[in-house]
Amino acid sequence: MRRSLVVGNWKMNGSKAFVEQLVGGMVGVLSNAQVDIAVCPTYVHIPQTLTACAGSAISVGAQDCSHVSSGAYTGEVSAPMLRDLGCQWVILGHSERRQYHDEQNALVGAKLTAAVESGLLPILCVGETLEQREGGEAQAVVASQLEGSLRDQVSLAGLVVAYEPVWAIGTGLTASPEQAQEMHAFIRQSLENIPGLDAAATRLLYGGSVKGANAGELFSQADIDGALVGGAALDASEFLAIVNAAC
Ligand code: 13P
Repeated sequence: MRRSLVVGNWKMNGSKAFVEQLVGGMVGVLSNAQVDIAVCPTYVHIPQTLTACAGSAISVGAQDCSHVSSGAYTGEVSAPMLRDLGCQWVILGHSERRQYHDEQNALVGAKLTAAVESGLLPILCVGETLEQREGGEAQAVVASQLEGSLRDQVSLAGLVVAYEPVWAIGTGLTASPEQAQEMHAFIRQSLENIPGLDAAATRLLYGGSVKGANAGELFSQADIDGALVGGAALDASEFLAIVNAAC
């Protein structure tokens, strides 16, 4: 039985006051949650978020990490640094990183290695664009993203995969539960070919315009084990509604 996981990706949003208010609106309510819950603030808000979430059911992650552990890499933050702060998770290969920072599968794979070696739990994002879906390439794109970053990994302990169709991110367009389930089943099947991974035990999250109103239907699908939430994670009551739908 896979335990549900709901992760908030705050992207490049927030301020000290906002974080205080958002986390303050969730910690007490979520103290006895039956699902795993995490939030991923910007790097600069991680220490404050860790302090605010201490002792609660909410764990904290980062939205990215470097592929190396230290050195002359101006502007980068490494996986050991994040682990040292107290982060448990790191999102890798998000479509916004792929789109705006030209991240390719091999680099995402190197980041994944660095994350696992440091004891961070990686959340690997995959997903096709609208053009790729309309061209009938959705499964091939996702398969190559999985293969390209999971192949040759020595350890994939605790790996989580998030299916985020690019056309559903921040657009208000959600994949239908059936569309999402179809891809999740395909992802689980593809993971069976990755050595060292227990595909049946791997949690698969759906991401793309998830809200309190559509979460329940998505979570009722056999291979959807939770959500990676963007916009709705910036609103405590929406995020709580999504967590409740996963309980
Ligand atoms: P939205 O929930 O805003 O569509 O964002 C999804 C996402 O990109 C989470 O990583």
